[in-house]
Amino acid sequence: MKNLLIAAALLLPLAAQAADEKLIERGKYLANAADCVACHSVEGGAEFAGGLPLESPFGTIYGTNITPDKEHGIGNYSADDFFRAVTEGEKPDGSQLYPAMPYTSYRLLKREDSDAIYAYIMSLAPIAKPSPQTDLAFPFNLRFGMSFWNLLYKDVVQLQPSEGKSEPWQRGQYLVEVLGHCGECHTPRNALGALQQDQRMQGGVLLGYAAPSLLADDLAARGWSSDDLATFLKHGISAQGSMFNEMYPVLHHSTQHLPQDDHKAMATYLLGDQPPQARQVAAVAVDQLDQSAQQGRQHYLNLCAGCHGAAGEGVPHVAVAMDGNTSLRLADSRNLLRVIDDGIKEQQFTGFERMQPMPGFGDKLDNAQLRDLLHYLRQTWGGLDAELSQEQVSQLRGETGH
Ligand code: HEC
Ligand code: HEC
Ligand code: HEC
Repeated sequence: MKNLLIAAALLLPLAAQAADEKLIERGKYLANAADCVACHSVEGGAEFAGGLPLESPFGTIYGTNITPDKEHGIGNYSADDFFRAVTEGEKPDGSQLYPAMPYTSYRLLKREDSDAIYAYIMSLAPIAKPSPQTDLAFPFNLRFGMSFWNLLYKDVVQLQPSEGKSEPWQRGQYLVEVLGHCGECHTPRNALGALQQDQRMQGGVLLGYAAPSLLADDLAARGWSSDDLATFLKHGISAQGSMFNEMYPVLHHSTQHLPQDDHKAMATYLLGDQPPQARQVAAVAVDQLDQSAQQGRQHYLNLCAGCHGAAGEGVPHVAVAMDGNTSLRLADSRNLLRVIDDGIKEQQFTGFERMQPMPGFGDKLDNAQLRDLLHYLRQTWGGLDAELSQEQVSQLRGETGH
């Protein structure tokens, strides 16, 4: 009997430790889904030790050190402080965080999920590294100005009623809208940098690149099915192309680490429980193209076909297909133009998948040649015959945001 009591007393702390480990494990999963590391780390630096510069129309804002270091990190935060910072954008001293920290989406984070992320972050090694100073232009350098901004815009993110929706749809909504904060990039912003709630998920523009509309009908019109969306979120590559620009870090730090069920849930939420039919476009034959596009074809064969294939079919592990690629199917030609001008540096996809880097052709094509090439790509594989003017092309070329 006595022995049993001793055994029970010994078991208790073990059980508590196991519970802690479970909480920390869950916190890690949630921090991945919420992509916390993306902004709070720099390439090659310690996770969560801060330092990433985030460009905003008002200046550069730095992700801070959120390791448990008491001086430079958040070692003095209580779980309450943490919940308030993440969901309300308010620091323990009462000052406001800039909305570059996406508390406008995290606002609906569940308290128990915040506590799990807190337990995970507090279990990490403290890193004594000061955060770079954020230095914005007047009047955005005045943090009390943010209280005013918050009064106006903080409460914009609202969830749709989930009545009658499936369980994966409901989980997908929480993953997409709250944790994944997908709407922070895929929603247009007003001149003050606030999300335009009435145009939620209808597509935003970030430093010269478009984060396209994620509305179900728009996704289906560009050829997305639920399976393809889930594949894209898991691997970063699908029949519709690969992730690049600001979407790539979302894969790298977040979605590739989530279980398959989560990819499916997000796809279910985005396309709906009854997804619209994905629209496919058939490639248009050369003799059906207008004259500009026919000229563009020569540039394609000279500069692009070596990697993307003469029929736009792509080469596995070398370059993605142009046939069926959503960058060519977006009415906004911005991403297509930017990728051709800037290229894409080498990216590591899920597992051991790699692609070659794509060189930029900014200095090889003048506005007229680029316009012809855009016409060729859009007409042949994009199902888009709207003509682009040279002015549009030169204007988009100027809008690099760099
Ligand atoms: C899109 C970028 C981004 C993401 C994603 C992000 N943060 Fe932040 N976070 C920031 C920036 C930028 C700041 C500093 C803002 C400022 O200086 O006003 C910040 C500040 C903070 C602070 C206040 C730190 C301090 O200095 O006192 C905490 C705590 C925090 N973030 C936690 C999190 C957690 C937890 C997550 C994931 C759930 C997360 N952040 C995701 C950008 C981000
Ligand atoms: C050296 C090989 C190479 C050449 C030449 C090349 N590309 Fe690419 N291209 C790639 C690779 C690889 C990717 C995907 C890179 C990634 O996402 O990591 C890509 C991506 C793209 C994309 C983005 C689509 C997506 O889903 O990733 C477009 C659009 C594109 N290329 C068009 C062109 C055009 C037009 C030309 C000619 C002007 C061209 N490329 C020349 C290798 C090449
Ligand atoms: C930091 C900004 C940012 C965040 C956060 C973000 N995206 Fe994106 N997303 C982009 C950009 C930019 C593109 C265009 C480049 C590309 O296609 O890879 C894009 C492209 C996409 C595409 C391809 C659309 C198409 O038709 O070509 C899908 C699907 C997508 N994002 C889904 C999501 C989901 C789901 C989330 C949340 C888990 C998310 N994004 C979060 C910036 C972002």
